Amino acid sequence: MKKREPATPDIYDVLPDLRDEEYEALKRDIAEHGILVPPIIDGGSGEIVDGRHRVRAWTELRAEGTRVRDYPRDVRRFSSDEEREAVFIASNLFRRHLNRQQRAEVVAHLRERGWSLRRVSDVVGVHHETARRDLSIVANATIPERVDRQGGGTYPSRRPKALPSIFVRSARDESRARAALVALGDEAPGTDLRRSEEKARLAALARRRAEEVPEAIEGPGWEIRTGDFREVLADVPDHSVDAIVCDPPYNTPGVPLYSELSAFAARVLKPGRICLAYCGKVSLPEQLDRLGDHLEYVWTGAIFLPGRHTIFRRKMIFGRWRPVAFFSNGPYVVRTTIVDALWAPGRGEKRPDDHPWQQAVGPFERLLEMVSKPGELVVDPFVGSGTTGVACMATGRRFLGADVDPGAVALAIQRLSGTPIPMPDRARNEARGGVS
Ligand SMILES: C[S@@+](CC[C@H](N)C(=O)[O-])C[C@H]1O[C@@H](n2cnc3c(N)ncnc32)[C@H](O)[C@@H]1O
Repeated sequence: MKKREPATPDIYDVLPDLRDEEYEALKRDIAEHGILVPPIIDGGSGEIVDGRHRVRAWTELRAEGTRVRDYPRDVRRFSSDEEREAVFIASNLFRRHLNRQQRAEVVAHLRERGWSLRRVSDVVGVHHETARRDLSIVANATIPERVDRQGGGTYPSRRPKALPSIFVRSARDESRARAALVALGDEAPGTDLRRSEEKARLAALARRRAEEVPEAIEGPGWEIRTGDFREVLADVPDHSVDAIVCDPPYNTPGVPLYSELSAFAARVLKPGRICLAYCGKVSLPEQLDRLGDHLEYVWTGAIFLPGRHTIFRRKMIFGRWRPVAFFSNGPYVVRTTIVDALWAPGRGEKRPDDHPWQQAVGPFERLLEMVSKPGELVVDPFVGSGTTGVACMATGRRFLGADVDPGAVALAIQRLSGTPIPMPDRARNEARGGVS
């Protein structure tokens, strides 16, 4: 976005302030009903573009001890300062009744700022064609679907292109919406905050996929390889791994991978050690069946997901937990206690640039403590954003992982190293103390 010119008069001073009695009436209304018309927030700067009086009244009421609930916000992305200023002028002109003198002052101010007369008349509105252009920069919610025709009947109104915006209901969600808009770049947001964040995560993944990712990179106590685990982990020696902790894809094409995982685990795990796999619920029986191809069933655990809903519309089911299967390589050798139900903090903690399938770290740390000991080698063939690796570092395990998606590997490396991804050659040179 272009930088604002500090020398120009502030656009927000152009319109006359509300009169004292108008402001007091607004404040009384907000005390009684709360803010009903969402203020418009600039997603980039966080500035209030429209609704300053509403927010000021609300803030004063709270400071005075009046109980007013948090208010809805319309968080928007503006492609330029001019676009933002035009929205400010237009939305205020529509809401305030200016007398002729006041409108003349607005026009004079805008001319002073170097606006063309045509643009000023567009925004202030004196001709029906000009008014249509004014509407095109105001939220589409203010425009009726149909317009009355003189002499009877109606015709569809010309609906302007909406500015990218996300409606939210609290200050916390406002910062989430702003982060989502930033992460989305030029892409349009989704229909609500959750969908906008999902889109932002997919956009971030697509951007990372375009980065150059090394085939393998090591850090102190960890190594991640890019590629199908059946190929890139083929050199892991037989019976050398203390535990496998992973989260394979749960979708239908991913189900056969549970057989491949079972074969891999039977080869690399030490006898009696655990292969722990997150499972989906739609295909849970088949996933358990396939894990049993080469391994022995030990137990099924549950990760509870407070506030998190997986919605299976076809069956009208709101899911709130995730199954975790414990299988062992041959007869299970008991080494520690297993607690089979854990709480995850839920999806609320995810940021828009996280991996779309990123799991909470907390339960992984607890699970690692149940299936391995400090210093032991843990493998995750489906690294994703590297949650198992992050939990291994937090609990003092060595970690080896792989993922077929370079975008996921890029994020996993970033999370594990806490630094931007080095180029392949440098990466190898700089790698210290890997897992082998
Ligand atoms: C559910 S995600 C893992 C999410 C991870 N637990 C996290 O917290 O970010 C599954 C991952 O398996 C990867 N994957 C799928 N098939 C694979 C294969 N054959 N070899 C390696 N990785 C694979 C996908 O690219 C995806 O990133």
